[in-house]
Amino acid sequence: MFRVKDDRLKREVFGLTFDNPVGLAAGFDKDAKLFDELAAFGFGFIEIGTLTPVAQAGNPKPRLFRLPEDNSLINRMGFNNGGVEAAVKRLKNRKTKVIIGGNIGKNKVTPNDKASKDYEISFEALFDYVDYFVVNVSSPNTPGLRELQEKEPLTQLLLKLQELNTQKRQRKPLLLKIAPDLTNEQLDDIVDIVVDTKLDGLIATNTTIDRNGLKTTDNRLAAIGNGGLSGQAVKSRSTEVIKYLAEKSKHAFPIIGVGGIHSVEDAIEKLEAGASLVQIYTGFVYEGPSIVKKINQGIQKAYEDNRMS
Ligand SMILES: Cc1cc2nc3c(=O)[nH]c(=O)nc-3n(C[C@H](O)[C@H](O)[C@H](O)COP(=O)(O)O)c2cc1C
Repeated sequence: MFRVKDDRLKREVFGLTFDNPVGLAAGFDKDAKLFDELAAFGFGFIEIGTLTPVAQAGNPKPRLFRLPEDNSLINRMGFNNGGVEAAVKRLKNRKTKVIIGGNIGKNKVTPNDKASKDYEISFEALFDYVDYFVVNVSSPNTPGLRELQEKEPLTQLLLKLQELNTQKRQRKPLLLKIAPDLTNEQLDDIVDIVVDTKLDGLIATNTTIDRNGLKTTDNRLAAIGNGGLSGQAVKSRSTEVIKYLAEKSKHAFPIIGVGGIHSVEDAIEKLEAGASLVQIYTGFVYEGPSIVKKINQGIQKAYEDNRMS
C-alpha cells in the first residue's frame, strides 16, 4: 500500500542501490526491533541505532517532548539501547531487503579518550548485518560527545574505523553524522576530514541545541529543559549546512539530508541544496506513516512536471 515503484526514484549512492531516496533517520528503531515492519511503509532505507557496545538506560523520563506550535520535538533520550549484540541477534533474522544503516555511538560512561574502542566494537559486531555505517558524534545528549567532532580526535577515530573497514573482504560505506550547530570553520574542517579519511559521505544534520525563533513560550522551553530540537524548527539550518557542505566540497561526496522534512517541498528543498538522499524522523511523528508515500509520489510528480531531472 505504501510503496511507490518507479525507476526515477532509484538512487545509486556510495555503491548501494536505493529503491527511493526517502529513509528513516536514526533513533526511531534504535534497537533494530522494527525494521521489517517499518520497511512496509515504503522507506528506501532504514537506519538503526544509535547503538552502543553495552546496554544503557539513557536519561530519566520524561525525555521526549512535543512542541506542537513549532511542529517540532525536543528529546534528551541519551542513547537508550539494549547494546549492539542484542541488535545483531535480531538483524540475523532480517526478512526485508530494504537497505539498513548501522548508526554507532559510545557509552555514556566511556571517556572520550577511550571512545574509539566503543565505535570499533560496534563496527565489528554489526559489520556483516548492515549495509552502511554512520559514526554519530553529534548527539547533544551524551555529555562531551560532540567534542569528538574536533579535527584531531575525529580524524583519529575515522582513520581507525577505515583501517578495520579496509581489512574486510569488501568494505562498507562509512558516513559521519554532524550537528547543525557547527560553525562554518568547523564545517570546513569536516570537508577536509571527509576527504582525508576517505569517508563515503555525510549525514546532515542531527538535532540542534539552539532555541531561537520558536513559537513555543520561553516558560515552556525552560520547563522542558535540555535536549536536541528536531522538526520544522531545524529545517532551514539543516538545509543551510547541506548547501554549504555541497558547495564547499564541490559535490565531492554524497550527503544525506535530514532535519525538518514534513512534506515533499521540504524533501525537494534538501535535494536541491545538494542532498542525494533524505531521511525523516519528526515528520513521520507529526504527519504519520503515509508521509513516505506522499514524498515519493511528490518527487514522481516533480519529474513529470519537469521540476526535477
Ligand atoms: C526522539 C529522537 C531520538 C533520536 N535519536 C537519535 C539517535 O539515536 N541517533 C542519531 O544519530 N540521531 C537521533 N535522532 C536525530 C534524528 O535522526 C534526526 O537527525 C533529527 O531528528 C533531525 O531530523 P527530523 O527533523 O526529521 O527529526 C533522534 C531524534 C529524535 C526526535
